[in-house]
Amino acid sequence: MLAPSLLSADFANLADEIKACENGGADILHFDVMDGHFVPNITIGPFVAKTVKQNTILPLDCHLMVENPDRFIPDFAEAGADYISIHSEATHHLHRSLMLIKSFGKKAGVALNPLTPLEFAFEAAEYCDFILLMSVNPGFGGQTFINSFFRRVGALKEFLILNGLEHVLIEIDGGVKKENAREIAEAGADILVSGSGVFNGNIADNLKSIRVALK
Ligand code: DX5
Ligand code: ZN
Repeated sequence: MLAPSLLSADFANLADEIKACENGGADILHFDVMDGHFVPNITIGPFVAKTVKQNTILPLDCHLMVENPDRFIPDFAEAGADYISIHSEATHHLHRSLMLIKSFGKKAGVALNPLTPLEFAFEAAEYCDFILLMSVNPGFGGQTFINSFFRRVGALKEFLILNGLEHVLIEIDGGVKKENAREIAEAGADILVSGSGVFNGNIADNLKSIRVALK
């Protein structure tokens, strides 16, 4: 599944950018929430998420890069998020946070920074619908892919298969482009997030090139 990250969209023309993603064959819209504490950047919140949701037929995937995410999970659930991920590094009570997401009937995910031990994902997997592996340090679009991802996704995929958890999806976020999409998917990623790889240039052309690369 392809998930354009709206972080790299033209916010002055957001409705058009979203339509272009839909017409270009995107599967999910990825929505990056940053609080200036967990990551050194501030972006958008539930108010914008609600507007996006009202302007799209695609599922909305809210990636919460915020400290103490429990404070905001209800707001994003009410805004219409379909998927909500929280960082293992940002909550003291990961199980409680995941259960809070599920209590709203949303798909719950745990996100891991590039060097966070995979054991967090192993422990959390049975309570998750998806696991997001960061392939850049969270905070900004347009960064270069960190290659340790390949080792990590292989180990995570193996763990999920060995434990009967194949239904838990692996999402990969950061530095995904047409040039590396195939290798990433073959390594075991189910959801590919791409920001600058989709929005820099023509959205439909970029989405098509990524699709072609995946075949
Ligand atoms: C980074 C965000 C990503 C970002 C990806 O903190 O979580 O979703 O938008 O952007 P690219 O694809 O440009 O690396
Ligand atoms: Zn993201």
